[in-house]
Amino acid sequence: MKIVRTIAEMKKLVRELKSQKKRIGLVPTMGSLHEGHLSLVRKSLQESDVTVVSIFVNPTQFGPKEDFKQYPRDLDRDTQILEEIGVEIIFCPDVEEMYPEGYKTYVEVQKLQDKLCGQSRPGHFKGVCTVVLKLFQIVSPDVSFFGQKDAQQAIILKKMVKDLDLDVNIEVMSIVRDDDGLALSSRNAYLTPEERKAALCLSKSLGEAQAMIEKGERGAKAILNKMIDVIGKEPLAKIDYIEIVDKENLNPPLSRIEGEALIALAVFIGDVRLIDNTLIQLKE
Ligand code: PAJ
Repeated sequence: MKIVRTIAEMKKLVRELKSQKKRIGLVPTMGSLHEGHLSLVRKSLQESDVTVVSIFVNPTQFGPKEDFKQYPRDLDRDTQILEEIGVEIIFCPDVEEMYPEGYKTYVEVQKLQDKLCGQSRPGHFKGVCTVVLKLFQIVSPDVSFFGQKDAQQAIILKKMVKDLDLDVNIEVMSIVRDDDGLALSSRNAYLTPEERKAALCLSKSLGEAQAMIEKGERGAKAILNKMIDVIGKEPLAKIDYIEIVDKENLNPPLSRIEGEALIALAVFIGDVRLIDNTLIQLKE
């Protein structure tokens, strides 16, 4: 396994791989790896000749009051895990390598970046798009893997790829959850045992929504009210947003849910902001 820290070295390796006609898979991460990340890595190992996992805690996607400094980092553990499952290349540049002094260029996917998480995290998706476009330029992957856990991120990145005519396929993998339903996240490490229990209200509210839809409910209001109710019963929880939206343009339905809809939510459990979602496919 190679651990690459500079853009120049990464590009040199990529040139060699391309000359050997190797299919490159890229899994962008911020490290602190868990089974959610590893599901993407395993898929890439299956589908590509060479898998590059990037580990970079990207400062431009964190707001000034967010957890950039505190974000869990453990490169030794991450590299060991990735080596064990057979990853060929880890790209882990430092901040100055990706954003040298005087850095000025950013990418925005307008409108989509302002919805859902964009409302309480202004500038977040601009940071995500910028770093992912840079990674695509550096690694030139044929295919790149993202998680449905960050549904809005995946939608925005697909749009960026389409709008900028990038030659990369984006594959989105389903959400990996703990046995009790909590979606895996590096930020779960911040939760106290009591908060960890309280955090179950996110997946529980999505389960209740799904059950209502299965029983025939199509009114977005009724479903949202039920979810607000479930989360309202948990004293440690404070809703940031809950929305039912179109899975392409992220707009809410006019009244009734039809076709495919995304139910997405962000909830503070104590000080920790967690997100979760479910995709509804109506067969009508
Ligand atoms: P990070 O939060 O480290 O997540 C890396 C990838 O793992 C993302 O595509 C995310 O959706 C996926 N992932 C996280 N938890 C998951 C889960 N429980 N099930 C399935 N997939 C999961 O997302 C980022 O990093 C950054 O924004 C990044 C794209 C790397 C840009 O900096």
